[in-house]
Amino acid sequence: MTQLATSFTEQVGISVPVICGAMYPCSNPELVAAVSEAGGIGVVQPLSIVYAHGHEFRAGLRLIRRLTDKPVGFNALVEKGTRVERNNMRKWIEIALEEGVRFFVTALGNPRWVCDLVHQAGGVVYHNVTERKWALKALDGGVDGLNGVNADAGGHAGERTPAQLLDELGDLGVPLICAGGIGDERRFVEALELGYAGVQMGTRFIATTECTAHADYQRAIVEARASDIVHTEKISGTPCAVINTRYIEKVGTKAGPIAKVLLRRPRAKRAVRLFYAIRSLWQLRRASLHGLNYKDYFQAGRSVAGVTAVEPAGDIVRRYAAAAG
Ligand SMILES: Cc1cc2nc3c(=O)[nH]c(=O)nc-3n(C[C@H](O)[C@H](O)[C@H](O)COP(=O)(O)O)c2cc1C
Repeated sequence: MTQLATSFTEQVGISVPVICGAMYPCSNPELVAAVSEAGGIGVVQPLSIVYAHGHEFRAGLRLIRRLTDKPVGFNALVEKGTRVERNNMRKWIEIALEEGVRFFVTALGNPRWVCDLVHQAGGVVYHNVTERKWALKALDGGVDGLNGVNADAGGHAGERTPAQLLDELGDLGVPLICAGGIGDERRFVEALELGYAGVQMGTRFIATTECTAHADYQRAIVEARASDIVHTEKISGTPCAVINTRYIEKVGTKAGPIAKVLLRRPRAKRAVRLFYAIRSLWQLRRASLHGLNYKDYFQAGRSVAGVTAVEPAGDIVRRYAAAAG
């Protein structure tokens, strides 16, 4: 029997140590709310709420609040972007705090300024990391916990196995979450038994009745095997896990020669990343919301192996809790 109460559930005030990780464009308000309502915690992806699902940001948060009064989280991508991007993110964080959000998941850059804002309001910040170097930087910035993103993860994956990451980050004195590869309750229990304080899942929650991702995308996740997952540089310039559809086979997975040269030059890199970001916001939104009519960039991790049906998100959380409780 595994203990469901961990340092993470205690810090965040939830009953099941399961995070529905932020996903552009798959984090719609109904999915976030369903995971929180069942005892886990759903994380709001602001770009997804505003640009993929068309809610004014505060209205999107209030929609979630009408569906659940349990804790929800907020995802802040803190990579140095343009001034407009930084101001937008700061405004969204301030609104999230005003609306009672107290759990923040940062990714990509230095989370210090987010920690400063969130700690003033009594909240906690976890940072997505793939290796010790970034974990130490994040701790120096003041984070309260770490999401260890492993090689199996959907989105931008790490390079280590879950056990290797635990070895590398387990002595840092903060709760450590296993992000990647958890597609069924057996893997969830294994992660807790290894010593993780919880799991962050993305792919599993796309194949749910509350997620508004297109049925083609959900079916592709249910049917895929772990060996169908490949990493493509075509979305953001850095490797991102996708299902190897016919479209991916046709266009390949490597960044083009011009993008490659530009990505090596610090100044040009920012412009290329911005170009990729704008293009991929649009492409991913179309692929996930409109299905196979469009170029099928179906982002998913190796946890597809554990996904055998589209189910209500709350059933998944309850089944995991029962398996571990
Ligand atoms: C479609 C998709 C979009 C994602 N978008 C984001 C994002 O916007 N921000 C972020 O921090 N992580 C993002 N992730 C990573 C997830 O939050 C989570 O860490 C990851 O999916 C865990 O691996 P799993 O898919 O094997 O469960 C995304 C993952 C997927 C599958």
